[in-house]
Amino acid sequence: RLLVLEGASQPGAAAANAPAAIKLHVLYGSQTGNAEALAQSAAAAARTKGMAPVVQALGEVDLEVFAAMRHVLIVTSTYGEGEMPDNAQLFWEALSASTAPRLEQMHFAVLALGDTSYDGFCQSGRVIDMRLEQLGAKRLAERVDCDVEYEEAANAWIASTIALFAQTAGSSGSADASLASAPPAKPAIPGTSRKNPYAAALTTNRRLSGAQSAKDIRHFEFDLEGSGLTYEAGDALGVIPVNDPELVNLLLARLNVAYDTPVPGHEQSLGDLLTTQFEISQPSRKLLDWIGQSTRNEELRHILQHDDRDTLDAWLWGKDILDLLLLDPAHPIGVQEFVAQLRPLQHRAYSISSSQKAHPNAVHLTVAAVRYQSGGRTRGGVCSTYLADRVGRGDKPAIFISPNKGFRTPKDGDAPLIMVGPGTGIAPFRAFLQERATTGAKGRNWLFFGDQHRAHDFIYEAELTEWHKSGHLTRLDLAFSRDQTEKIYVQNHIRAHGAELYAWLQEGGHFYVCGDATRMARDVDEALHQLVAEHGGMPQEKAADYVNQLRKDKRYLRDVY
Ligand code: 2AM
Repeated sequence: RLLVLEGASQPGAAAANAPAAIKLHVLYGSQTGNAEALAQSAAAAARTKGMAPVVQALGEVDLEVFAAMRHVLIVTSTYGEGEMPDNAQLFWEALSASTAPRLEQMHFAVLALGDTSYDGFCQSGRVIDMRLEQLGAKRLAERVDCDVEYEEAANAWIASTIALFAQTAGSSGSADASLASAPPAKPAIPGTSRKNPYAAALTTNRRLSGAQSAKDIRHFEFDLEGSGLTYEAGDALGVIPVNDPELVNLLLARLNVAYDTPVPGHEQSLGDLLTTQFEISQPSRKLLDWIGQSTRNEELRHILQHDDRDTLDAWLWGKDILDLLLLDPAHPIGVQEFVAQLRPLQHRAYSISSSQKAHPNAVHLTVAAVRYQSGGRTRGGVCSTYLADRVGRGDKPAIFISPNKGFRTPKDGDAPLIMVGPGTGIAPFRAFLQERATTGAKGRNWLFFGDQHRAHDFIYEAELTEWHKSGHLTRLDLAFSRDQTEKIYVQNHIRAHGAELYAWLQEGGHFYVCGDATRMARDVDEALHQLVAEHGGMPQEKAADYVNQLRKDKRYLRDVY
């Protein structure tokens, strides 16, 4: 566990033996803070071995400085379909360029975080690992690629890799700063990690979007009174869902067994396991391979075993585990074997939409409850429908605060704040605006918001118009895409007000984006580049430098998914 490693800094034993502290650079690329937290625990482990670790974001390191480093441990996540985290992008651009220097004197190791349900699993870590080798650096330990349940694998890798660095660096260190000799970790407060969640009452569950909206957008409030939990505007809330009992029953019916069926190797019954311990909608790769090998349906076998990834993904689109099992409905399936193919139930993280400074005992979320009809069943998002439909009176969902240190209101309360958050992307900005209203930050605030129709989708209309009237929101620009024949999106307004927006940036403005990564955030990024070029009177390349500098200065921040 992270905490054990972190608690294991024994300044006496290890450090005293070391002739001279060897510098270990622990560099991270982190979108939500997981990689950063691992970098910190790697540094703590390095300290117990007598090394002097320096932790930095990849984006803060210039390539020339990097080229002079001798011992480098990189921890990086991947987000979306194989993209670099924002704070690693500049580093990667420099490292992958043909002008990158040789790195013969460097020893390195890479820890990659990812999610096997996306294409480009651990892509960022993979390409950095390959590129470093290409440039002549020596790989000290094989890269580890971790899936969403990364803690165990990551911590084991950190322990062994740090030991290798200590040997290579000639640092004597203590032979074994074993976990057993570490002082016991302090008991953590419930609600500060996934492993130790807090059971919070859901006190509000209100529909924000109108009855005729295409979307069911909800406002949720959880009670934190007495929990001792704290969060910052910009953080996310992890929610551990409970699966839909109807889907559990349909799976049990297909398996032809009762809810109470015991499963060897597990304490809970099959029904309970399917309800609370495993993902039962989206098939894992392991499950697909297993069905491909065991099915007697020749067509299904062929598709699963021989089609290329794109064809297979297209075929799988909209099919869940039950659909696949029903393609070969009479095939007997062993309960224990079936459970062994499932992925552990994941938490879902939602950007918090309140400021604790305004709501000391509550945390708010703004969530679209995803539901659709297919194959005669209502399907939907596991966690969004759990919160919207299945949390009964007296039920207390398991939650925890998931810090997002890279996404905060500007430290300078006077700095202009520009926020682009259409749809549920408004969540962190509602928190930011509450925060700035409570602290009395004087900086101007500009919000770009939008969705399909003003009449049904203008969520938080009353608060936003009130803030606009009072002047707390200096500007409020709304893009309702389907209220006219031509589509109007947030980026159209960004372009239309480019001159003013550029002036805000020149006056120290911070530019934030939250919401859909693949289309909206990409188009907004393009609009930003264009307006800088146009109103700054710069050629494209200079505009790209300008935007990169904003990123480096942490004045262009994104929370996109
Ligand atoms: P549309 O569905 O009418 O095309 C929230 O989903 C809002 O984002 C909707 O108004 C949606 O418009 C809009 N949207 C869709 N694609 C977008 C894009 N590339 N950039 C910005 N907004 C987009």
